[in-house]
Amino acid sequence: MVVTQNKEVRTDRWPVNPHVKNLQASILREILKTSSQPGVISFAGGLPAPEMFPLADLQQALIDAVAKYGADSMQYSLTRGVPLMRELLAKRATERGTKSEVDNIIVTTGGQQAIELIARTFISAGSYILTENPTYVGALQVFNYYGAKYAPVAMDHEGMIIDQVEEKIREYHPSIIYTVSNFQNPTGITLSLERRKALIELALKYEIPIIDDNPYGDVRFAGEPLPTLKSIGGDAVIAVRTFSKTIAPGFRVGWINGPKDILDYIEKSKQCIDLHTSSINQYMLYEYVASGKLEPHIERIKTDYREKRDVMLKAMEEHFPDGITWTHPEGGLFLWVELPSHMSGQDLLPKAIDLKVAYVYGQPFFPDGSGLNTLRLNYSNASHENILTGIKRLGKLFKDHM
Ligand SMILES: Cc1ncc(COP(=O)(O)O)c(C=O)c1O
Repeated sequence: MVVTQNKEVRTDRWPVNPHVKNLQASILREILKTSSQPGVISFAGGLPAPEMFPLADLQQALIDAVAKYGADSMQYSLTRGVPLMRELLAKRATERGTKSEVDNIIVTTGGQQAIELIARTFISAGSYILTENPTYVGALQVFNYYGAKYAPVAMDHEGMIIDQVEEKIREYHPSIIYTVSNFQNPTGITLSLERRKALIELALKYEIPIIDDNPYGDVRFAGEPLPTLKSIGGDAVIAVRTFSKTIAPGFRVGWINGPKDILDYIEKSKQCIDLHTSSINQYMLYEYVASGKLEPHIERIKTDYREKRDVMLKAMEEHFPDGITWTHPEGGLFLWVELPSHMSGQDLLPKAIDLKVAYVYGQPFFPDGSGLNTLRLNYSNASHENILTGIKRLGKLFKDHM
């Protein structure tokens, strides 16, 4: 018998936590809904190229994982992560210049959960976060949930302008420094070596942890590789990593490489959230990575993304009018466009969608609410042909509104 048959259930009167009620929906998700209309060429998402997913090798990795680890692969496992996976991640970090032990690693459900766990650990209402202006909007969403305030630092082509950092630290006493140091989402900009060192010196001087959110670092397709903040700064830096951009985001497997005592706190928080990250996904990725298939795969991704970036840059050169500037990323998935100051990326977006091309306007990425005249373009998820057509359409739109 259905008891509520003739009674209205007023869920709007239920005591939803105001904290949650007032949460802003991710503007990105909203834009993605619009841009996924049929026929729209989308530069809006941050999606890796699906045709690059190594499906056959992953299928084999699943077969191998179930065959080798049997019921363990389907069972509950440790909050810190499957030991084999943590050993592998520590070994790989050490080989790449960040001396790491198993206890420095906790596997997380994507990089996004790592950001959430770190925010839980360090941020309470009113805490300041020193960050690039603009920065990754998904991190801002988490930080906003915890009631953070911001000490935003402007960027130039070498990343965060370090001269402003000490000033902001003295003024705001931030709890953490959050940076996306490699091929930043949204700008594609990379923090220079000199500034990496200077940032670490300041973090040590003022005893503030640096959170280096680094999903794109392995996808460098041009220029000289730089040492990671973690490899320079050691325990001064908490690195957030993920397989989302190098293998596939659907696994939801990332990790934190950080000081052991801090990981003890993070582990307790993770127990509350999801007990642990999917066991089978970890075993499967372990099989894939340990079999040596990841490195050649990353090389293929780099070639694909370099070509797509080049096609986009060339088309922009050809079709964008004078007065518009953009970044030239050496890796990652995004480039960043600045329109003349009287133009608004947000106002132009509906017109772009009428022309069947979409992007993400830049303002939501700015913790200080500026950046009206900016927008982000993703090049990894479109074909060469669509990049050419889409950029041509945007060029016309911009010319008409200069
Ligand atoms: C800077 C940054 N951090 C974190 C994430 C989230 O990554 P994941 O898919 O591993 O949760 C993204 C995804 O786009 C990102 O750009």
